[in-house]
Amino acid sequence: MADSITITNNRTGETIEIPLVDGTVSARSWSSLLPGIWFDDPSFSATSGADSAITYLDGEAGLLRYRGYPIEQLAEQTTFLEVAHLLVRDKLPTVTQLKAWQSEIAEASPIHENFHKRILEGFRDDAHAMGVLVSSIAAMSTFWPDSKDIENPEQRRDETTRLIAKMPTMAASAHRRSVGLPYVFPDPELDYTSNFLSMMFKLGDSPYEVDPVLRDALDMLFVLHADHEQNCSTTTARVVGSAHADPYVTVAAAAGALYGPRHGGANEAVLRMLEEIAEFDNVDDFIAGVKTGDRKLMGFGHRVYKNYDPRARIVKDTAHRVFDVTGMNPLLDIALKLEEVALADPYFVDRKLYPNIDFYSGLIYQSMGFPVEMFTVLFTIGRTPGWLAHWDEMLSQDSRIARPRQRYTGPADRDVPSIDVR
Ligand code: CMC
Repeated sequence: MADSITITNNRTGETIEIPLVDGTVSARSWSSLLPGIWFDDPSFSATSGADSAITYLDGEAGLLRYRGYPIEQLAEQTTFLEVAHLLVRDKLPTVTQLKAWQSEIAEASPIHENFHKRILEGFRDDAHAMGVLVSSIAAMSTFWPDSKDIENPEQRRDETTRLIAKMPTMAASAHRRSVGLPYVFPDPELDYTSNFLSMMFKLGDSPYEVDPVLRDALDMLFVLHADHEQNCSTTTARVVGSAHADPYVTVAAAAGALYGPRHGGANEAVLRMLEEIAEFDNVDDFIAGVKTGDRKLMGFGHRVYKNYDPRARIVKDTAHRVFDVTGMNPLLDIALKLEEVALADPYFVDRKLYPNIDFYSGLIYQSMGFPVEMFTVLFTIGRTPGWLAHWDEMLSQDSRIARPRQRYTGPADRDVPSIDVR
């Protein structure tokens, strides 16, 4: 059987045969038969918007791979910086490459003192850390005007390193500003995640003692968050980048998308939901409210995963390792009961709603001492290499500016009435 689709325009009798390539048909070939007719797909759920060699995701089978490597093996065997190298430099690093990459990152991790004084200090004390971070990333564009040379691969490489390096520094500073603690400068002797924990939690002059179990768990969570192909924020990065905006405003736009509770903001929303449920006995009432459409079960459901989210399974296992160190998070019982009730209920089963990565990650972050406002900030640190890998890939391709069409539903042509008769 031919691997193609034949379409006939019944208005003209014209026919076109379009080949099926890697599970897609070319909308441009299709539209050559249908001039002036657009594909109606507002949430892009039936649209492939990119050719990408970065991440493979099979939602039905629950598979996730970065450049061909299964997420389970990466989570078990690699660090976040190795995965970041894999994403933005195409390969897992050798020992020598990793050393060089760690030095580049350490060198680029400080942020300008003016940035602390003039930008971070300008926010209200109660400003949400994610709002501060999104604005801070955009503000970096004014410190690095050369970053506008986006057609130069060397420049893109430098900005990519800078953004991955500075993200934890900005994130920790956003937190310390909100709690009135002095900023901690990065320590080049520490690995990426230990350095972030130290910048977050260090008090006084003595070095911050990093617990290796907690450091490894957080590092692994960064690995799990590092990329997820054409999710809302990555698509945002590709769309904004397609206008040739600089990488700082591009990543700020992506982080803005991530902030939403349907996307990366879900980890914070899950924690707030668990705190609101508060008692084991309130779970059934809460689930009843979800089924009548009053509420959403945050941390459940996914556009692509319809059997399970492979990341959620790893996060759930990690939670137990973390709780052995930090003590049990009392909200875990409520989360486990919610999961048990939902997975046995036809409402969730019929709609193929399963826990996603955000369902258990917040419990881990909370037990490690992160305030709830920092949860999506942690997701941002993890996702930064993914956004930048897609941005660079898109600019390396023969990309055109992203510019979809619309179905117009407004009034027909009419005359402007004078102001006194409106
Ligand atoms: N709780 C209750 N019902 C839900 C939920 C949920 N969390 N998610 C989807 N549904 C229902 C939805 O109401 C719809 O029901 P019906 O067919 O009766 O109208 C059906 O399931 C299909 O949902 P949908 O809205 O078509 O699904 P979507 O693919 O457009 O949305 C989602 C995906 C992740 C935005 C959504 O499931 C959701 O809002 N989940 C809660 C937020 C969340 O946990 N987000 C994190 C996603 S994973 C991390 C990341 O990548 O950001």
